[in-house]
Amino acid sequence: MVISIPETTINSSNGRRPIPLIGMGVAKSENTDSNEKVKTAIIEAIKVGYQHFDTAAIYGTEKPVGEAIEEALRLGLIKSRTELFVTTKLWCNATKGHLVLPAIKQSLKDLGLEYVDLYLIHWPLTLEYEEFKLPIPSEWISAINLKDVWEAMETCQNLGLTKSIGVSNFAPRRIKEILTFAKIPPVVNQVEMNPAWQQKKLNEFCKRNDILLTGYSPLGAGSSWGRNHVMDSDVLQDIAKSRGKSIAQISLRWLYEQGVSFVVKSFNKERMKQNLDIFDWSLSEEEMNKISQIPQQKHIYFGLMVGEPNDVITEVDADLSTM
Ligand SMILES: NC(=O)c1ccc[n+]([C@@H]2O[C@H](COP(=O)([O-])OP(=O)(O)OC[C@H]3O[C@@H](n4cnc5c(N)ncnc54)[C@H](OP(=O)(O)O)[C@@H]3O)[C@@H](O)[C@H]2O)c1
Repeated sequence: MVISIPETTINSSNGRRPIPLIGMGVAKSENTDSNEKVKTAIIEAIKVGYQHFDTAAIYGTEKPVGEAIEEALRLGLIKSRTELFVTTKLWCNATKGHLVLPAIKQSLKDLGLEYVDLYLIHWPLTLEYEEFKLPIPSEWISAINLKDVWEAMETCQNLGLTKSIGVSNFAPRRIKEILTFAKIPPVVNQVEMNPAWQQKKLNEFCKRNDILLTGYSPLGAGSSWGRNHVMDSDVLQDIAKSRGKSIAQISLRWLYEQGVSFVVKSFNKERMKQNLDIFDWSLSEEEMNKISQIPQQKHIYFGLMVGEPNDVITEVDADLSTM
């Protein structure tokens, strides 16, 4: 049975495709995941009902996403590309006004698409390098010129290369800055969000400003980032046991009840299906209360990728842990 996923509009007046509240994350857990594995996973995901795919230039998965869409059309799994919602992101090496348009054009070329549904600034900072490597050397990093970059993002939307524009890993202070000059305000802010990093204040801020918060790492990234603070939570485990659900389902249902959308990654067909099966039941007030008391800990910082201390990164990371 294909589960139908609730959707919400992110551009109220222009009749664009609404965003499905569950998206499939297409960042590879393992660098060894081949393009073929990613493509097969996306085709399986389309078969079980996913319509929203979340990729990024830096993930190296735009090509297999595009190939999977082409294959899904060929197999008749979808009749038209318009049935899908594709998000991709501007990487930090292109967060300069004149680099944004070439970057989205490259992403579209890799995806084999004429437009994406949503284009996000991946992180509020700039990196300058010839060839990407980890850890990121401190001298690559500089502050972002938000006005220049946002104007170029607006150009992308005005040219029809993306239906909507938004941000990722942005604290309220930076969104407020965009709102002072934006002709097109951001419609989405994609950030880490799960029962162990609940984003209550940021969610309220985004709702007040008509911005949809999208949670990434909704399961705490599982073992893929080497941490299991969500999947190992005793509170979630107790609730899961008493409800006959999995911990993942409790976590995802909790996100759904926060009025946000989220992107969850699984390349395993059974887990993909399980992650969609969260709509015909709800958490009780008592269960919600227990979850609200889970100790809070942010796990995804840009600094994790950086070799030495750097002022720009320290500021971005500090912003993200106080929001
Ligand atoms: N904007 C950003 O800066 C940013 C940062 C991080 C992530 N993201 C986006 O968010 C997406 C999801 O985040 P994430 O990949 O970090 O973490 P996640 O979705 O919280 O967790 C993924 C991990 O959980 C496992 N998993 C999935 N469903 C499960 C289930 N039902 N039971 C047990 N384990 C399960 C997956 O393994 P299997 O594949 O083996 O099932 C994988 O190891 C990414 O793919 C990416 O699109 C964005």
